[in-house]
Amino acid sequence: MTTMPMRTALITGASRGLGLALARRLAHDGWQLLIDARGAEALAVAHNELSQHTRVIAIAGDVTDATHRAALTAAARDLGGLDALVNNASILGPSPQPALLAYPLDMLERVYRTNVVAPLALLQVLREVLRPAARILNITSDAGVEAYTGWGGYGSSKAALEQLSHILAAENPGWRVYWADPGDMRTQMQQEAFPGEDISDRPLPEESVPGLLALLEGDMPSGRYAARTLTAPTGRPTAATGGVREVRVALTVEDFEHAVRLYRDGFGLAVVKEWNTPEGHGIVLAAGRGTVELLDHADAAYTDAVEAGQRISGPVRLAFEVTDVRATSASLRAHGATAVREPVHTTWGDLNQRLQAPDGMQLSLFQLTPDD
Ligand SMILES: NC(=O)c1ccc[n+]([C@@H]2O[C@H](COP(=O)([O-])OP(=O)(O)OC[C@H]3O[C@@H](n4cnc5c(N)ncnc54)[C@H](OP(=O)(O)O)[C@@H]3O)[C@@H](O)[C@H]2O)c1
Repeated sequence: MTTMPMRTALITGASRGLGLALARRLAHDGWQLLIDARGAEALAVAHNELSQHTRVIAIAGDVTDATHRAALTAAARDLGGLDALVNNASILGPSPQPALLAYPLDMLERVYRTNVVAPLALLQVLREVLRPAARILNITSDAGVEAYTGWGGYGSSKAALEQLSHILAAENPGWRVYWADPGDMRTQMQQEAFPGEDISDRPLPEESVPGLLALLEGDMPSGRYAARTLTAPTGRPTAATGGVREVRVALTVEDFEHAVRLYRDGFGLAVVKEWNTPEGHGIVLAAGRGTVELLDHADAAYTDAVEAGQRISGPVRLAFEVTDVRATSASLRAHGATAVREPVHTTWGDLNQRLQAPDGMQLSLFQLTPDD
């Protein structure tokens, strides 16, 4: 069996600062990368370094330029699609920053074009190459929430990016949209914000990376996050998991393509790895937290009665905790599953629905906090 790194991220502004720190970490973790920045020289240095660990395409250009965005889209397609779009590139505006009443409006427009319009414009052209379950991560700032004097231009642009992200998440409930504040970091932008000041007390951008990883590799709901309050998924076993790192349910399926459509596209699961060799075709899908449920015959029959109205499960049934049973059910049915029954409020307080895959596998969806 051969495996290949399947996850691919586009990180804008990855020639230095937070973008480069995140790119380094993802490269070490085997992600393919697509990166940009306006300065070609610094970008080439970053490209050389990152290429030692993974496949990297670097395209110098300005995110405010539609031609550059089209070039990024074409490259993303060449890489097989994106699992993550990280809108990190950003400008501060004039340094030192003027008060709003003296703010040059042409500069304000530039700040908005870079920090607000470009992230959305990029998403609009990239959306067709986003893989199911792709993460959209927009880097914002506490200056988008707090009223720091002198931060009116940059701060209001980040506030706009936050609200844009929030509405994007509401309009696309099937997506994971994150807007994250990385916290103060010792970078060029921070130095521009505090010209002439010693910024050596600010944490390095590397300290904000684990939190961003938690968003890109975890399964957090869409929303606003402070990167340094999150911790990276370590994959390390804890006492509670008894030394087990992952439980993997391996399914032998009759029709591989149908099964991929149902489980990957129906649930929107990210591909961890895939192989297609003379020996066979396989795929591993990330499916959130894994647990093993053991039931005696009586309990299995009771669960079948509640969810399916009949004794129908064999020795294996797959159960998925989801955030919205009805939405996931609709997606699965659009990808080949059939509903065994309408969703039911169970005697144990959940909202459940039983579905059946084309090969007969019983699928339970359950929602712990039903909204109705
Ligand atoms: N540093 C902080 O304390 C802090 C605090 C809160 C939030 N943030 C946010 O964190 C993110 C990263 O900031 P940072 O401190 O790492 O900034 P940085 O050191 O100035 O790096 C910014 C990166 O973006 C690129 N870039 C800027 N404008 C671009 C454009 N129009 N098109 C393409 N690339 C562009 C830069 O390269 P070129 O200049 O060569 O294009 C560089 O690679 C930003 O979104 C920022 O607003 C930073």
